[in-house]
Amino acid sequence: MSDAPIITQKAPFAAEVEDGKSYFWCACGQSKRQPFCDGSHKGTAFTPVKYTADKTGKVFFCGCKHSANQPLCDGSHSRL
Ligand code: FES
Repeated sequence: MSDAPIITQKAPFAAEVEDGKSYFWCACGQSKRQPFCDGSHKGTAFTPVKYTADKTGKVFFCGCKHSANQPLCDGSHSRL
C-alpha cells in the first residue's frame, strides 16, 4: 500500500457549499463521490479532511490530493 494519495485529477473540483455546513473532502483520492469522502479510505493511511463553509457559494476543492492548503486547491496540481 502506498502512502501517497491517488491523483484523482490534475484539476480542482468546483462545488457549491452552504454557509455553516460541513463537508468531508476525500484525501486518499479513491472516493467515487469526488471531491467528497465515500469511505473508500478504509485500510489506507488517509482520513478525510473536514471543511466547514463560512459562506454560501462555489469553492474549489483540490482534485489532485497534493494541495498544501487542503481541502482547497492551491495550484499544486499544475506542478505534478
Ligand atoms: S487540484 Fe490539487 S492543488 Fe489544485
